[in-house]
Amino acid sequence: MDYFHNIINSFLKSNPFFIIDDYFPLIKTDRVFYLYADEGRKSLSTVEKIITKMQNLNIKSGTPIVAIGGGVTTDIAGFVANIYRRGLPFYSVPTTLLAMVDASIGGKNGVNFGGIKNNLGTIYFPTDIIIETRFLKTLSNIEFISGWIEILKIFLLQNSNLWNEATNNFLKKDDTDWLKKIVFSAKNYKESIVTQDPYSKNIRHLLNFGHTLGHAVELQQNIPHGIAVGLGILFASFLSMDILNFSEYKTVFDSISKLYDYDNIIRKMNTPDIINKMIQDKKNVDDENIDFILIQKIGSYPSDIKYSLKISYIQKMIYEFQKNYNKISKEL
Ligand SMILES: NC(=O)c1ccc[n+]([C@@H]2O[C@H](COP(=O)([O-])OP(=O)(O)OC[C@H]3O[C@@H](n4cnc5c(N)ncnc54)[C@H](O)[C@@H]3O)[C@@H](O)[C@H]2O)c1
Ligand SMILES: [Zn+2]
Repeated sequence: MDYFHNIINSFLKSNPFFIIDDYFPLIKTDRVFYLYADEGRKSLSTVEKIITKMQNLNIKSGTPIVAIGGGVTTDIAGFVANIYRRGLPFYSVPTTLLAMVDASIGGKNGVNFGGIKNNLGTIYFPTDIIIETRFLKTLSNIEFISGWIEILKIFLLQNSNLWNEATNNFLKKDDTDWLKKIVFSAKNYKESIVTQDPYSKNIRHLLNFGHTLGHAVELQQNIPHGIAVGLGILFASFLSMDILNFSEYKTVFDSISKLYDYDNIIRKMNTPDIINKMIQDKKNVDDENIDFILIQKIGSYPSDIKYSLKISYIQKMIYEFQKNYNKISKEL
């Protein structure tokens, strides 16, 4: 893994502290914390272990933190970098597709707490993000698809040409130049949204498309983030047919279900539990309605960014969705 060692070497002269996914147990130094990347360990207790190690090593203000790993690693490391001695320079090296196009961008970091995803965290922008797509060669198929779905989410709301290109050419993913083009286009879209609205006052909510239901099912069924978001995209598109006369549900369904077969997950969805989790989600602000991001047309987003929907309506629509998610024809 030359690319891994090249990145490490480029940082060594600044004497950083590394936080690295234990998939890469490749450097021998005291100044590293190897992290087992798992939602259960994306916790305060892991943060405490890292900080204790840093304190024992007498890591001082100004020492760079370098995170190498997927979204779990970059989220925890960004949080640590922000709170240790009120902020250390932070460098993010995302190694999963999802982290390259999503988790490492936008400054949000944090850990899960009390059964609520990303309940504790801050916004702290990295000094630099280093994208090395050769990391993707070792990624499992399911993790690759998980990231691909976040890419589709971005294109679905912003660019129909890129949506068509990414949905129709998934098998071209081993073509490095093409993959880089897709990764950097998705990354640029996210960066531009974050630049316009760093503190989620309006347009940044768009990035939550597919995440309202997605986060709840991710917690309930312990599936990779992007896979859960794919289900959330299907449900948000299903709601959009009802609310905004969205006419392209079938296209969205065919594209997403080509990547992952959701039958099992949809059958196992426990509606009351999902509703509870959506109400508790930190992004939701009241107990009677749940905010959803909807779509009107592939490649663009509606003028209203958020739709506040009654819980009783959502409950009814989840049952409808479980019955009809794969039966809807284009004409309906
Ligand atoms: N901060 C944000 O804005 C933001 C946005 C989206 C998602 N997230 C967070 O990101 C997390 C999900 O990130 P993820 O999907 O990258 O998961 P992850 O970090 O858990 O990584 C997934 C798996 O891939 C392995 N892995 C990492 N790089 C690898 C490589 N190059 N080759 C082989 N295996 C590798 C990891 O060890 C892990 O088993 C969630 O906790 C989610 O909340 C944050
Ligand atoms: Zn996401």
